[in-house]
Amino acid sequence: MKTISDFLQMKKNGEKIVMLTAYDYPSARLAEEAGIDIVLVGDSLGMVVLGYDSTVPVTMADMIHHSRAARRGAKGTFMLTDMPYLTFQISPAQAMENAARLVQEGGCEGVKIEGGEEIAPQVRALVKAGIPVCAHIGLTPQSATALSGYKVQGRTAEAATKLLHDAVALEEAGAFMIVLECIPAQVAELISTRLSIPTIGIGGGAACDGQVLVFHDTLGLFERFVPKFVKQFETLGVKARDALSVYADEVRSGTFPDAAHSFSMNEEQLQKIYGDVQG
Ligand code: KIV
Repeated sequence: MKTISDFLQMKKNGEKIVMLTAYDYPSARLAEEAGIDIVLVGDSLGMVVLGYDSTVPVTMADMIHHSRAARRGAKGTFMLTDMPYLTFQISPAQAMENAARLVQEGGCEGVKIEGGEEIAPQVRALVKAGIPVCAHIGLTPQSATALSGYKVQGRTAEAATKLLHDAVALEEAGAFMIVLECIPAQVAELISTRLSIPTIGIGGGAACDGQVLVFHDTLGLFERFVPKFVKQFETLGVKARDALSVYADEVRSGTFPDAAHSFSMNEEQLQKIYGDVQG
């Protein structure tokens, strides 16, 4: 399993860090087998797995349940779990209590939390207690309503300066990594150059120290909407639907199951049953 010092070294060496979300045993296992550096049990599971319209309804129980499943699938990969909405914003003590549960019950190596300088006290408290923290700024989906929707952030000089200021404050508070979501590539590059900790982009351009995508987006399994920053490396949704309709057709037409997918018994035993039944 790669460690925090490996990630810092990767940044120094200019080696890109690959993060992918996973939410259960099969997705985490596939991520690990594909050589992903960091598995993120993101609260995006609210949308892509649980069918909510946003990440806001996701609970601690959801995150613990899914982290435990992902852990079983990726035992040898550094795993981060998202702290859900309103489980850390209220106070450093609240953040401590919930982060400890994610690590102890969910089995993750560290947590990710959304927010800028205002959550630096929470980051400081977690790091002091030995819980590694990945920060997340830019488009922070838990506050999408306050940001007036899922929009690119940091497009003005003032907004970009605020992002840089937030990133520096979070690094100073002890975050070991920071996700930059949906910000202009030039701003992400500036932040990546200024910080010593690795930046992980999602809609943050190529200059970030690594990239993260949502499992279902990467494979074309989430079709409700496809953000501009998503590249679908496969169209498994289409393929899965086609395969399932072939299955339905074959059951209805009686072509499945055929002999190759059925069991049989030897003739002697069969005759015995007929004899027993008739006699
Ligand atoms: O919840 C999530 O999956 C995330 C990533 C998209 C960064 O926060």
